[in-house]
Amino acid sequence: MASGGLRIGRTTSTTTGSGGLKNLFTYRIFISAMFTLLFIATLSVLFTSNPSTVSSQTTTTISTTTTNGGDPVISKSNSQFQSYVHRSFLALKSDPLKTRLDLIQKQANDHIALVNAYAAYARKLKLENSKQLRVFEDLIRNFIDLTSRPAYKSALFETKGSIEEDLLRQFEKEVKDRVKTARQLISEAKESFDNQLKIQKLKDTIFAVNEQLTKAKKQGAFSSLIAAKSIPKSLHCLAMRLVGERIAHPEKYMDQGGKPEFEDPNLYHYAIFSDNVIAASVVVNSAVKNALEPWKHVFHVVTDRMNLAAMQVWFIMRPAGGGAHVEVKAVEDYTFLNASYVPVLRQLESANLLKFYFENRAENATKDANNLKFRNPKYLSMLNHLRFYLPEMYPKLHKILFLDDDVVVQKDLTGLWKIDMDGKVNGAVETCFGSFHRYAQYMNFSHPLIKAKFNPKACAWAYGMNFFDLDAWRKEKSTEQYHYWQTQNENRTLWKLGTLPPGLITYYSTTKPLDKSWHVLGLGYNPSISMDEINNAAVIHYNGNMKPWLDIAMNQFRPLWTKYVDYEMEFVQMCNFGL
Ligand SMILES: *[C@@H]1O[C@H](CO)[C@@H](O)[C@H](O)[C@H]1NC(C)=O
Ligand SMILES: *[C@@H]1O[C@H](CO)[C@@H](O)[C@H](O)[C@H]1NC(C)=O
Ligand SMILES: *[C@@H]1O[C@H](CO)[C@@H](O)[C@H](O)[C@H]1NC(C)=O
Ligand SMILES: *[C@@H]1O[C@H](CO)[C@@H](O)[C@H](O)[C@H]1NC(C)=O
Repeated sequence: MASGGLRIGRTTSTTTGSGGLKNLFTYRIFISAMFTLLFIATLSVLFTSNPSTVSSQTTTTISTTTTNGGDPVISKSNSQFQSYVHRSFLALKSDPLKTRLDLIQKQANDHIALVNAYAAYARKLKLENSKQLRVFEDLIRNFIDLTSRPAYKSALFETKGSIEEDLLRQFEKEVKDRVKTARQLISEAKESFDNQLKIQKLKDTIFAVNEQLTKAKKQGAFSSLIAAKSIPKSLHCLAMRLVGERIAHPEKYMDQGGKPEFEDPNLYHYAIFSDNVIAASVVVNSAVKNALEPWKHVFHVVTDRMNLAAMQVWFIMRPAGGGAHVEVKAVEDYTFLNASYVPVLRQLESANLLKFYFENRAENATKDANNLKFRNPKYLSMLNHLRFYLPEMYPKLHKILFLDDDVVVQKDLTGLWKIDMDGKVNGAVETCFGSFHRYAQYMNFSHPLIKAKFNPKACAWAYGMNFFDLDAWRKEKSTEQYHYWQTQNENRTLWKLGTLPPGLITYYSTTKPLDKSWHVLGLGYNPSISMDEINNAAVIHYNGNMKPWLDIAMNQFRPLWTKYVDYEMEFVQMCNFGL
């Protein structure tokens, strides 16, 4: 139902200059829309399931989700209220008025749980000061105040005698009023979401046209940021459906613990770090479908805490075929990655850098269109920097293949494990041609440290498909080298952003060039790659802004990705992945 209501057609209205500025805030609107979807998805689960079991399940699952497997945390007043429900239910089952009271209480309780879930997500995204979070917190408080009001407490919940019907009716009315408020809030949020989506769609179209006309225009740079940053509604819908599924059937999605295969160095291991469920599933699915012996392949999917539940549910509902193994974890599970160990986390926490990325007041952003690329929060994510910690994340393994989530595997990849790495750490495809993609382009050769250590003409390589020899990595102490350079770059004078420059620096003398047919790049920005080259590639990579799951993807390349989308999965159908 959520997806149906949100489907938007192309619009022909025109934008003005100020319309462009408005789009800067689209990202926030998407975040709030996601809460709405969570809320709606959960509501639908509640109203279609057996009401007598749902209320308690809902509360515990939401709590365990937020604490990631720890003890359930239910706010104190909320759990008090729950014990009332429980007691009255046991003691007074037979009285019809009590039964009605019980139903009303359940309805209130369900809404408290839902609004709590909503607020928990808002808090996780650090929307501490947002109006929306306050409104929802007020609503929770309001519900709880109502149920713990002394008059109701003594006459309805704690009485040994019969319930007074008038009082019950009054209580019922007050609960219904609050439920109504909750639903009204949802529909309001939804309306503004729809309007913003129309603007978004238009913007995407403008971008796609602009991209072909001229890349250099500022308007193009501006729109490409918006398109790359915004996550389409179908992806939100999918994540929310998956979370809803887990709320409805928590027993099916218990953490099953590690399998011995996850640590077996004789198998073929892959590392995929992603917050995009459909993209990660395409990578795994394409690799499995093209593997000769799929049961020997192990996929280590790591995501952020926001997407952990959705990712876990997906791979339990849709296990990789052919006996392949999938491990799903959150970055937060790797507790050794703390700010005292990881320089990039220290730097992320520095207020200065946050300001640099998030200072998105409209006037400065337009003025600064050339720098917009550097403000994409993507470059901040720890998920992106995990690639520098592979030997510590997988201490038992000797080799691992790192894959970006915007790739498709088209061949059996086990040949990579047979390549003689000559003691090198990183097997990668080189990208330089003529004077392009040389080290000089990626780092500051005016800096004495860079100048002393590197050749500006050295050929760059690409992330996306990298074969890492973890034993050589440990021997070369590559992580320590990375830490040294990342720390030197505290004030961003060595390189500006991203993981490629520190990668080029870290593996400067320890990279083994691979044959180009292993990894063909550019399907997200370069329309002129030859189809022969693509068909011959073991891995194709949609680097660039035109991702295959976005409206703006290039039509000629999209089918190579969509053929691995699991359209039989019911949520994929529900969420209008009309690809
Ligand atoms: C950070 O992690 C390291 C191991 O990587 C550990 O030795 C250290 O105690 C941790 N520090 C904190 C503050 O948790
Ligand atoms: C915009 O830039 C100017 C000058 O660089 C700065 O003084 C101002 O604080 C910026 N605006 C915001 C909202 O950060
Ligand atoms: C940049 O950082 C380095 C080391 O952290 C420091 O020595 C240098 O003075 C800083 N440069 C500027 C311009 O702040
Ligand atoms: C490059 O390094 C030099 C020397 O540290 C510094 O003065 C300059 O600002 C740096 N350039 C950039 C773009 O950071």
